Amino acid sequence: MKAISLQKQNIYTGNLILVNGEYGYKEGESDLLMPVLNEVSHILLKYRAVVLLSSLMEEIRGWENIVPVSGWRSGKEQQEIWDSSMEENGKEFTRKYVAFPGHSEHQTGLAIDLGLKQEVVDFIRPDFPYTGICQAFRERAAEYGFIERYPSGKEAITGIGHEPWHFRYVGMPHAAIMREKNMTLEEYISFVKRFPYGKMHYCYNGGNREILVSYLKAKDSEETVLEIDEALPYCVSGNNVDGFIITQWRMRNGNEAKLRNT
Ligand code: DAL
Ligand code: ZN
Repeated sequence: MKAISLQKQNIYTGNLILVNGEYGYKEGESDLLMPVLNEVSHILLKYRAVVLLSSLMEEIRGWENIVPVSGWRSGKEQQEIWDSSMEENGKEFTRKYVAFPGHSEHQTGLAIDLGLKQEVVDFIRPDFPYTGICQAFRERAAEYGFIERYPSGKEAITGIGHEPWHFRYVGMPHAAIMREKNMTLEEYISFVKRFPYGKMHYCYNGGNREILVSYLKAKDSEETVLEIDEALPYCVSGNNVDGFIITQWRMRNGNEAKLRNT
């Protein structure tokens, strides 16, 4: 076992941070942003999200008919979008389709709006239908760690209108679990709290691997110590609320050495 020191500020970083009307984005992460596509150099996401999005697009030849519309936004840019939408579309529309500045997932570099390639692509509400190439993308998205973040019927939970075009990178296996259980990120963050680290875990069947997901509440003090089995690959993300989500991978047959080499 190894002791990992997690700081308060780590609550606000990682693939699983919940950013919504209630929980704002704390600026100051230093993760590398990079263009989603070489030809569209102004649309950026975090490195890992770009890698996974590129693999998925390659798999389905998605970029032939899909365009990236909006990726990472600074707080200032979100404010400008909010202000201009308020002026052009009014309060009701803006609250439904534009997150309040400081509370947009786009500020994290983990969210992307995609549109069907056509002559005119709307910036706030691009077309991304439940048919053809867009649906092919949607169906494979979870395998690559992306979720459709604002589904129909969950508006009261997400606080945002139905947005078929907005995808959020959360990583594997979380995207697959959310999809299987038809959960929004809000619901998933609550769900994971049922599995306190060291006592219980949610076990996702990843073929020859088991993926264990659990929750570690942050201590009131500056530091929370995570005691973890170094022999297993693991990943820690803040939830942007009050603690951490721990993900661990282990081989079903207990052959950890084999796992480390894959
Ligand atoms: N359209 C989404 C909610 C945003 O502005 O972040
Ligand atoms: Zn969006």
